[in-house]
Amino acid sequence: MSSIPADLPTAEQVVDSMERMHGLYPGHRRSGARGVCCKATFTPTGDAAGLTTAAHLQDRPTPVIVRFSNSEGNPRSRDTAPVARGMAVRFQLPNGGDTDLVAMTVPLFVASTPGQFLELTEALRPDPATGEPDMSRVQAHVAAHPHLAEAVTQRPPVPVGYGTAAYWAIHAFVWTDAAGNRQPVRYRWEPEAGRAELSAEEAAGRQDQYLTEELHQRLRQGPLAFTLQVQPAEEDDPTHDPAVAWPERRKEITAGRLEITAPVDDQDYWAAQRFDPTRVTAGIELSDDPVLTFRARAYAESYRRRSGNR
Ligand code: HEM
Repeated sequence: MSSIPADLPTAEQVVDSMERMHGLYPGHRRSGARGVCCKATFTPTGDAAGLTTAAHLQDRPTPVIVRFSNSEGNPRSRDTAPVARGMAVRFQLPNGGDTDLVAMTVPLFVASTPGQFLELTEALRPDPATGEPDMSRVQAHVAAHPHLAEAVTQRPPVPVGYGTAAYWAIHAFVWTDAAGNRQPVRYRWEPEAGRAELSAEEAAGRQDQYLTEELHQRLRQGPLAFTLQVQPAEEDDPTHDPAVAWPERRKEITAGRLEITAPVDDQDYWAAQRFDPTRVTAGIELSDDPVLTFRARAYAESYRRRSGNR
């Protein structure tokens, strides 16, 4: 399929390929380009405190910045498209540090390794003749990696609002407690308003940028809330593969409640920041997922390009 070596891509190769897939929009994120930033407060329940020493999961509220986005690289993309939405959360910790949690509206990632992601973005590159990807290339990619079929065919919802979708952080992270015990976990933000999506007909009747407008209107009426649901791994649950779900029957912890109160005053400042899922804090470690560690390099490369207005 692609002549690029799939086993060990560089961040530059992957970001180049994302630009070919999405188009190049200088100064913008190579994914999640259209977004809106909000102020929020996270209040822990304390139910996670026995498993992790992370400061924001103990007993005191933490100020937070949230950035909602659409997954495309086009900052003028239409909100009515059935693409994944993102929710990037920065917890501003009491010691002056911060930690990020970056999630999206599908439970599985489309690749188990950075190389598979590169193969997929190459397969999704629009055909110059039609302007659309050649879906037979995607089918060939899935045939070569049959375990990705479920992840690649997930259809993200077109939500009624950014506040009516669940957002999965997908990768496993490892919580550590004061005694050094280690517990792998996965996170999900669950909307307190409940999950609600638009039918194709309803979506067709919405304005191109209805999600930002809906969010502003919603926040004028009062705060918008999510709970942080945490799935602790049991023995044999794979921590290295973001394309594979853990059994749904796993018990969950509600680690806290996020209350979003208003758009931030300085959208430009926050739009220019870099959220990074590997920016963890004491009490949380990265798992052995190769996609998770690779993301730090890809996000840094995208940030480097967009900061230079490329
Ligand atoms: C190989 C795997 C992945 C690659 C190469 C990749 C690449 C990127 C890049 C280059 C950006 C733009 C970063 C910036 O300029 O600041 C981005 C943004 C984003 N990605 Fe990924 N991504 C990957 C996996 C994921 C996964 C698994 C999730 C969800 C769990 C995710 C969710 C997001 C979100 C929400 C944003 C927007 C963040 C923001 O608002 O700043 N990505 N991604």
